[in-house]
Amino acid sequence: MRIGVLTGGGDCPGLNAVIRAVVRTANGRYGDAIIGFEDGWRGLLEDRKIRINNDDRTDRLLAKGGTMLGTARTNPDVLRAGLDRIKQTLDDNGIDALIPIGGEGTLTAASWLADEDVPVVGVPKTIDNDIDCTDVTFGHDTALSIATEAIDRLHTTAESHQRVMLIEVMGRHAGWIALNAGIAAGAHLILVPEVPFEIDEICALIKKRFQRGDKHCIVVVAEGSHPAADSGFTLREGGIDEFGHERFTGVAQQLGAEIERRIGKEVRTTVLGHVQRGGSPTPYDRILATRFGVHAAEAVHAGKFGMMVALHGTEITLVPLAEATRQLKTVPLERLREAEAFFG
Ligand code: F6P
Repeated sequence: MRIGVLTGGGDCPGLNAVIRAVVRTANGRYGDAIIGFEDGWRGLLEDRKIRINNDDRTDRLLAKGGTMLGTARTNPDVLRAGLDRIKQTLDDNGIDALIPIGGEGTLTAASWLADEDVPVVGVPKTIDNDIDCTDVTFGHDTALSIATEAIDRLHTTAESHQRVMLIEVMGRHAGWIALNAGIAAGAHLILVPEVPFEIDEICALIKKRFQRGDKHCIVVVAEGSHPAADSGFTLREGGIDEFGHERFTGVAQQLGAEIERRIGKEVRTTVLGHVQRGGSPTPYDRILATRFGVHAAEAVHAGKFGMMVALHGTEITLVPLAEATRQLKTVPLERLREAEAFFG
């Protein structure tokens, strides 16, 4: 077979490990040719591709961050309008099956292609962990390790200076990175997009900590967090970017300034940003990405198209792309309740 592969959307650690696993499995076991399309769906719209060989160079991709194919965000309207062009490129290159590796946007486009009988098997990736129908996506564990280490470091400097430290982490509309890193690093408060915050309650919690003699306060703030409608505090509007995503305006910075104004404590804010997406994947992410790649190649050979590989418990399974892209997987309230035991 000739199998096409692409990586779309924001990069994340583990993408190269999937590519390696697809190549090793599909070429090693079945003698397939693997064609990598460059820069996400753009490579298919513009017919830009490379042959990926089952050689030492590919083998060494396992621990390498980023993606050897390049990636790009594409506006969903441009993608919709370009579906015929994409199908044409697949035909022109004799592609028998396509494996798109990506997040919500990439997998939604994969689902559209599946609806038009294009043979696709999706692989979910994202540090945000917001893809439904899989327990977790690779990339999340790496981002979590980086965020946890950063918060650990903030504890010591915050305590020395008796400061309030806010750390803003990524995750878009899901609070998984904030929740998990917050628990792992013993944050005193975690704000997630799923539950709008009350600034009065935040200030009261911080004051209480200092009143009882605690020396610092660490607040983990998911970038998509926002105040409750009637909380007396509003964020700057960022509008929508060219890819249809809400533009975040720096919630932690704005919140930090307001907390300092209200309670007169020294506040410092750290915005972790793209550091969370860079570098080598953790062993957990290398293993998950590898397993996803092996199973995606096997699914292609079993003719199981229109599906996405997923982790359920310890097993890799296949779920319909249409189901996996119906909604985002956000943090359930009961998971936040567990973390609340450590707030204050
Ligand atoms: O979806 C992954 C992610 O890192 C989000 O957490 C973040 O909001 C966004 O991508 C940043 O996108 P960009 O790299 O385009 O700035």
